[in-house]
Amino acid sequence: MQIPDLTTLHEQGAAQQPSWPDRDALDATVARLRKVPPLVFAGECDDLKGKLAAVTRGEAFLLQGGDCAETLEGATAENVRAKLRVLLQMAVVLTYAASVPVVKLGRLAGQYAKPRSSDTETREGVTLPAYRGDAVNGFDFTAEARTPDPQRLLDVYNSSASTLNLVRAFVTGGYADLRQVHTWNTDFVRSSAAGKRYERLANEIDRALTFMKAIGADPDEFHRVDFHSSHEALILEYEHALTRIDSRTDLPYDVSAHFLWIGERTRQLDGAHVELLSRIQNPIGVKLGPTTTPDDAIALAQRLNPENEPGRLTFITRMGAGKIRDVLPELVEKVTAAGVQVAWVCDPMHGNTFEASSGYKTRRFEDVMDEVQGFFDVHRALGTWPGGLHVELTGDNVTECVGGGEELLEADLANAYESVCDPRLNRVQSLELAFLVAEMLSEVHGPVEV
Ligand code: PEP
Ligand code: CO
Repeated sequence: MQIPDLTTLHEQGAAQQPSWPDRDALDATVARLRKVPPLVFAGECDDLKGKLAAVTRGEAFLLQGGDCAETLEGATAENVRAKLRVLLQMAVVLTYAASVPVVKLGRLAGQYAKPRSSDTETREGVTLPAYRGDAVNGFDFTAEARTPDPQRLLDVYNSSASTLNLVRAFVTGGYADLRQVHTWNTDFVRSSAAGKRYERLANEIDRALTFMKAIGADPDEFHRVDFHSSHEALILEYEHALTRIDSRTDLPYDVSAHFLWIGERTRQLDGAHVELLSRIQNPIGVKLGPTTTPDDAIALAQRLNPENEPGRLTFITRMGAGKIRDVLPELVEKVTAAGVQVAWVCDPMHGNTFEASSGYKTRRFEDVMDEVQGFFDVHRALGTWPGGLHVELTGDNVTECVGGGEELLEADLANAYESVCDPRLNRVQSLELAFLVAEMLSEVHGPVEV
């Protein structure tokens, strides 16, 4: 299968692209990127596709999470470990409480580019290009920082490589061993209500492990986990340069991550992002907002997954708590009636953002929960499988989303607001969410008391 060249792709109309001021520097960077080693192997992408096929069939649940926007400065060992820790904790809660295999997918090691609602930002009469993520420009509000710089694409590649290397070491080198289930519950989380509940669950897992060991069962799965990487495929130069022909199959894969998704603002059927992602073999996702019609979704599925292969396509719905019960039923019903094979995943974050009176962008934990509940309710009513959760979270004790068991208030937002883009659930809120989702999931799948 041919991949169109970059010029042809741009001619097709590419939304949300930076205006790179120095074309020669951009071309030189793309030439460099075409030669760098892949970050993932095609066989690993196929493996994830197989797992997502199980999600599509209703036999597994997807947990996809990480920062809204990674930053180059934030790609430290401590940050990566903290994110991994919260995802492992959430996955264990979901698996244990609902007895469903959980597919673990990081929104990391490549999530450096952001679509923006406006190309520019104005502060006190000064207008500069909007911050589009560390892949493009700097967050500081100066003309120099905000000028798109292609060198950043190489920095992002290097940073993604080191993040992924660390993740691979953690998940296979002992950190993700189930016997560590207590040690993931560290510091401030341990004393929260969710942390205490987790401690009880970890004790049960310990007992189960001791029993299994005593009877001679100690499978590999107890000592390591499968973990994959994902990000929004936004900057065409980066994704195109990292699309390579797999020597086993002679087919193209985007080797910048295992899973790529198309955002709500770049999913035009005849646009460049849909074109590029229709050509690669990776499992892919599309974000669907509240204006998506069933015809749009069916057309996207036909375009992106013409063979109707289970596991290839995931629809990540992000409707907003106030809309999901109105718009999701018809969408799921018609897509299902059309025979489309797709995994349905809930992003309860992007439809629930608002500005606090202090000016901070925030989300209410209760709205996030309400959207997830709506997602489960709709799927239950239709007899379809609520396949997963896509969340923006961090392993740190930030104050970006209000509400939750710790009752964070708008006045608390200034304490530790660290996101350069959207507000993330902190670690306690993430763990709370996992327990609540586990309850919903066990209702669908048969309960285990925790
Ligand atoms: C995102 O996932 O950060 C994002 C921008 O989402 P959406 O495309 O759904 O708005
Ligand atoms: Co976001």
